Amino acid sequence: MKHNIVLLSALALSALFVACGGDKPKPVIDSAVTSAAAPTEAVADADTDKGKEIYNNTCKACHQENGQGVPKTFPPLAKSDFLSDRKAVIEQIINGKTGAMIVNGEEYNSAMPPQKLNDEEIAAVLTYVYSSWENSGEAFTAEEVKAVRDAVKK
Ligand code: HEC
Repeated sequence: MKHNIVLLSALALSALFVACGGDKPKPVIDSAVTSAAAPTEAVADADTDKGKEIYNNTCKACHQENGQGVPKTFPPLAKSDFLSDRKAVIEQIINGKTGAMIVNGEEYNSAMPPQKLNDEEIAAVLTYVYSSWENSGEAFTAEEVKAVRDAVKK
């Protein structure tokens, strides 16, 4: 009986907590991605949600849910040493990639098709990739993607 009372009050407390809005701060703005004047942190948050959606719809089939890839077939994005070259990563998303490449000391010789994503979408998905799975946490902007696109356009 005593146990039940403790449980009940815990439930009541958490209901109260939820009713008060829980611990999740409301996003400052809805579409930070399109607003250049947005505070950096909010941009990163909005980018990460949108990026996760794009990742799950576009990249997950090959690179897997937790970015771990598939041995000898799809290289990992989780803790990939290739991610240190941001420009090469952006170029690879835009133009795809074939031929041998070494990721974390393992050779892959497969093909990644060009991804049909716009600059905002590439920035969002890469921000998600870089902020997941113990990666560096760096963010990308549509401007950075556009600059690479202009330079590598085929
Ligand atoms: C059809 C499968 C496929 C899809 C979809 C795909 N990739 Fe890849 N990706 C590959 C393959 C295969 C390679 C290695 C290419 C090679 O061997 O030359 C690769 C390599 C990479 C690399 C460089 C190596 C590494 O692991 O760091 C990055 C970064 C990358 N992909 C990111 C993405 C992102 C982000 C998306 C989604 C927008 C995506 N890929 C969608 C198959 C895919």
